Amino acid sequence: MSDPFVARSLDEIRFWSRIMKEHSLFLKLGFRCEDTKLIQEADYYYAVFEDIENRSHAFPLETDPKKIKSFNEKVIVAVTGIWAFKRKVLGLVIRCKLPGQNNFPLLIDHVSREANYFRKRLKELNKGNLAPLQDAIIKENVFFLRIMADHAKFIGHLLDPSERKLGDLARNFSHDFDQLLFQAKDLESMCPQSQTVPLLDQFLDQNRVSVKSLRDFKKTARDLIEECRIKSIIHPLLADHVFREAERFLEIIDMYDEHLTQV
Ligand SMILES: [Fe+2]
Ligand SMILES: [Fe+2]
Repeated sequence: MSDPFVARSLDEIRFWSRIMKEHSLFLKLGFRCEDTKLIQEADYYYAVFEDIENRSHAFPLETDPKKIKSFNEKVIVAVTGIWAFKRKVLGLVIRCKLPGQNNFPLLIDHVSREANYFRKRLKELNKGNLAPLQDAIIKENVFFLRIMADHAKFIGHLLDPSERKLGDLARNFSHDFDQLLFQAKDLESMCPQSQTVPLLDQFLDQNRVSVKSLRDFKKTARDLIEECRIKSIIHPLLADHVFREAERFLEIIDMYDEHLTQV
């Protein structure tokens, strides 16, 4: 029998270490040729997370939880490192120290929020005290809805301006997810009174509908980009990356929905 702590930890690390590795690549591609120090730092984190990803796949599910706990600790150190790197880059970009580089400030902030989320998940797992279900549902949705709203904005801004129809679609998704995010924040501010099963159930159902259609849009965009059928400056790996993050959010919604029906 595998320990749920081991299974949960490995699942988080397998998913998010690949994401962190790809963030390093995206940041690197946005730097200017002369930013050799930053490029080196991005390469360093690429290698760090590639190694973590490989190691996470090598652990069997029957691994001793103590070993996984110390592996989690090591990963937390690496994630803290890449988080600080991202925040440093954000500071440089916002203070106009890297004129002409190609990473949007919101994208850099976004990838740092994802690192922070990953770090928090591992810390909670290692402490063994997961947030109560009702709290977790609203918080996770507030986090992921903003991530989805950002993705729609990035796609809208990185498509070629001549792709007018796709640009409209991306902007509609951006608006839709901004509204869902505000709804989630309203529900959060009404806590704990808002934490009823019918309200949370409806909240999850409504979010699922929009995330599914955004996920399908991202899948279509990814395929079109891979087949070179549309004009954009979106890296094919970035298109796949945001698609996988939507899939992850859907899995989390389904997991919560299942737990909620058992309450
Ligand atoms: Fe990401
Ligand atoms: Fe993302």
